[in-house]
Amino acid sequence: MKLLRVAVLTCSTRPGALGPAVGRWLIDAIAPRAAEIGVKLTPVALGDLNLPFLDEEEHPSSGVYRHEHTRRWSAIVDAADGFIAVTPEYNHGMPATLKNALDCLGDEWAWKPIGFVGYGNTSAGTRSVQHAKQVVSALRLVPLGATVAIRIGDSVEHGRLRPDAARDAAGAAMLDELVRLAHALRPMREHARAGAVPGPLAGSHARRLTPDDAPEVTVLQRCCWVEEAVANDTTAIPALRESPEEVREWLTSWNATGIRLDGRLLGMVRTRPVGTDWHLGRLAVVPDLRGRGLGRWLLRAAELAAEPDCRRAVLFTGAKSLRNIALYRNTGYRPTSLAGPEGTICLAKDLPGERR
Ligand SMILES: Cc1cc2nc3c(=O)[nH]c(=O)nc-3n(C[C@H](O)[C@H](O)[C@H](O)COP(=O)(O)O)c2cc1C
Repeated sequence: MKLLRVAVLTCSTRPGALGPAVGRWLIDAIAPRAAEIGVKLTPVALGDLNLPFLDEEEHPSSGVYRHEHTRRWSAIVDAADGFIAVTPEYNHGMPATLKNALDCLGDEWAWKPIGFVGYGNTSAGTRSVQHAKQVVSALRLVPLGATVAIRIGDSVEHGRLRPDAARDAAGAAMLDELVRLAHALRPMREHARAGAVPGPLAGSHARRLTPDDAPEVTVLQRCCWVEEAVANDTTAIPALRESPEEVREWLTSWNATGIRLDGRLLGMVRTRPVGTDWHLGRLAVVPDLRGRGLGRWLLRAAELAAEPDCRRAVLFTGAKSLRNIALYRNTGYRPTSLAGPEGTICLAKDLPGERR
């Protein structure tokens, strides 16, 4: 399973602030639940980011960042699947540090849930949280209903939060809600990712697979190569046996494209140049959606991605994988004498001249 990454943002930055103590309490309170449900918590102190007031020339929605501090912040937010903001109330609103951190970025926030731990005097930080909820919605962040509100006078002693089982439980409940929402929003995040293009089925999209996709790719290839094992009477097939770590490794050295629909990985193919040959492999489509043109679409996309110097597309398949061989033959591939792993045959097809 993919770990869900939740960034815990400590928003106050003034010397002697209470924020770090509230952040520490939250991490301690929810860490056991996070471990149970596969969440990686990453504490982020806005004060450590050295983020000046928005100083980029381009609008943040462009994603064009000149400054290293913005790029660093962008990478942190981009890598997270959801957020918990630990925020004080300053003058009936959120602190400028949080507003600025939000304003500095654009799409990195989109379709991710955000929960709030607010703290303050009279209103226990609730006005700050209401203010922040209104602003985060503009960035397509999705605020949780669950919040934790801490009235400083009732909860703080010598700069630390007094133990409070009910507050610990509220923190864990907020994490649960955040995780449910993060999973529900995954298809929206997937669709909004840079480089995604419409796929062959209505509502589907295709994009380059990254090492982070290794768990789903591992499941897909194990499902898809069972039939190959039966057809070729062997389980000595790498796609059936590779661990997620091994898949992660090849995802860094091959260009792999995946088709997704509603967050589910439906199919994939991988490519790379070997001399003037364009090698294709791991063409896979989930068993329940075979015959809908996904394989052909992936094959075509893989061929179109060929580097200009490559003269022919080359692929290997099981010598007895008759269904695959028929698909490849129908799309112009012919057997070649190139040697592959034992029990496989090599097929190749000339790539269109205008590519060269
Ligand atoms: C500039 C400023 C404005 C504040 N305004 C409010 C407020 O409107 N409502 C409130 O309940 N507390 C307010 N407080 C009290 C803070 O909530 C309290 O000092 C808290 O510790 C601030 O968080 P921090 O220590 O992490 O900076 C304010 C504090 C500061 C410094």
